[in-house]
Amino acid sequence: MASLKDTDKQKRSPYTVDRGVPGGFEGETVTRRRLFEGGALAVGGLASAAFGLPALGFALGPVFSDPSPRRLRDVGAEAEFNDQTYIPRVITIAPDSGEAGKTTIYVRKRSQQDTDRLDQPYIVISTRCAHLGCPVRYVQASERFICPCHGGIYDRYGKVAGGPPVRPLDRFETVVQGGRVLVGDRFSLNSKLERFSTRDPSNHVDGLWQYIYPPRPTT
Ligand code: FES
Repeated sequence: MASLKDTDKQKRSPYTVDRGVPGGFEGETVTRRRLFEGGALAVGGLASAAFGLPALGFALGPVFSDPSPRRLRDVGAEAEFNDQTYIPRVITIAPDSGEAGKTTIYVRKRSQQDTDRLDQPYIVISTRCAHLGCPVRYVQASERFICPCHGGIYDRYGKVAGGPPVRPLDRFETVVQGGRVLVGDRFSLNSKLERFSTRDPSNHVDGLWQYIYPPRPTT
């Protein structure tokens, strides 16, 4: 007959056989039931994180926003631009990155016919495709921005006209000072050409998607 001391030792043994767990086998320390419970909890935690972390990032994003003053780059005299076609210019967006920190933009003067409600004296469109970031090129003959990577097509306002891009091309703020055109910070747009804080390529901003993807003020 097992003594009280033996019974206590069996209860504290790491092995299921010693603890008298039904179905336990030699060398087993965790019961299958406990293993499955742990697995289910881990999967549940991962699923919660998949939904919760982007929302948390969105909520905390403004806390880490770039506090530096707005940068304005001179891209030329007003006389160098017109309201009929886009003129390419190169600006620096990451001063510490050398050539890699430069990007091409397209600049056009706003005309009476332009229907978007963005209050900017010039329309300055980013060449970074809103699908995966390849550089787009403006084709005057068709008045389209074309992406060579996966066939993304945008109209003359940068709105998606075909292919996989998920939102319009980003734009840059503009101001005119002393007859010079100055280009400021980048911003993103939804499909109605309404302004949003800057998002990465492939991030939607229509509807609830705007709450899923956090802004990226430094891009
Ligand atoms: S990166 Fe432009 S269409 Fe894919």
